[in-house]
Amino acid sequence: MSKPRLYSGMQPSADSLQVGNYIGALMQWRDLQEAYDAFFSVVDLHALTQPNDPAELREKTRRTAAQYIAAGIEPAKSTLYVQSHVAAHAELAWILSTVTGFGEAGRMTQFKDKSQRYGSDATSVGLFTYPVLMAADILLYQTDIVPVGDDQKQHVELTRDLAERFNSRYGDTFRVPMPVIQQDTARIYDLQNPTAKMSKSAESDAGVLWLLDDPAVSAKKVMRAVTDSDGTVRYDREAKPGVSNLLVIYAALTGRQIPAIEDEYAGRGYGDFKKGLAEVVVNEFGPVRERALELLDDPAELDRVLAANAAKAEDVANRTLGAVYDKVGLLRRTR
Ligand code: AMP
Ligand code: TRP
Repeated sequence: MSKPRLYSGMQPSADSLQVGNYIGALMQWRDLQEAYDAFFSVVDLHALTQPNDPAELREKTRRTAAQYIAAGIEPAKSTLYVQSHVAAHAELAWILSTVTGFGEAGRMTQFKDKSQRYGSDATSVGLFTYPVLMAADILLYQTDIVPVGDDQKQHVELTRDLAERFNSRYGDTFRVPMPVIQQDTARIYDLQNPTAKMSKSAESDAGVLWLLDDPAVSAKKVMRAVTDSDGTVRYDREAKPGVSNLLVIYAALTGRQIPAIEDEYAGRGYGDFKKGLAEVVVNEFGPVRERALELLDDPAELDRVLAANAAKAEDVANRTLGAVYDKVGLLRRTR
């Protein structure tokens, strides 16, 4: 029996991933790669929907891939590649755009939010069709499950709708994927502003723990994290968002239960608790950072790994694309 297939990806939108990406995505990916035939992409085509310096985008793409590997995604086990290396993504996106309703795409909340923020003249058609490209990513690989954050759930629902519509219009072609939405506890908040999600695009750096930060810097950020005046290490998301967030990070990185950590720090101050967490953070991310920097020291080798994986991805993707071209009635070019 072959393993069920998994697909996920992240945009190369920063030099470093942050701890929310690590806990909310990479740790799951790492665990799931055993039981699934997993495909993980660095979605550089999606990143073009935001302004980018070309040289920086290239660098961020390599850095994102290096951090996947450093976090434990094994390129010999999972297919880890760069989206633009497999031309079929853009090609299938075009076909899928012809079965996507204009209104349907316009109802995507991420598009509505972003286009409202930028105004229609600063909103590209690429941003509008972003979810169609994401559907192509997923459907090319006959994917069973798509682990994503809850903000991406609507995009996976659209993917399902497009797959079902295409299948009923042209005959069975795509597997219809299931979203796997990460638990709410996996949501990590900004250390300085613990009701806002920790994000690569946060305005201030002080509340973001970067995977590639110097460990001493991360420790300092933990020690300076916003807490409250109550003084007890206790989980209460409403009343104590700062401490609760630190507890969630602590528990996620150690695999321990929150009550056990509360007990350990009962009757001790926030200083002790933060010191404990700082140590956990340094121990976890020190090696990840080192490994990522090592990989980035040899970009030619990293590029070779990505190329080999792109070739594996391409085989699968081209099979699906060929079937789609036949189904919709494109004339085959003879060889
Ligand atoms: P993004 O950085 O928004 O492109 O997200 C990439 C992946 O990381 C997605 O699967 C997100 O759900 C996850 N992620 C990003 N930020 C957080 C966070 N603060 N907490 C938990 N997961 C996150
Ligand atoms: N849109 C996703 C995000 O911003 C990234 C993404 C692109 C993706 N293609 C995908 C995630 C396919 C899962 C599957 O997080």
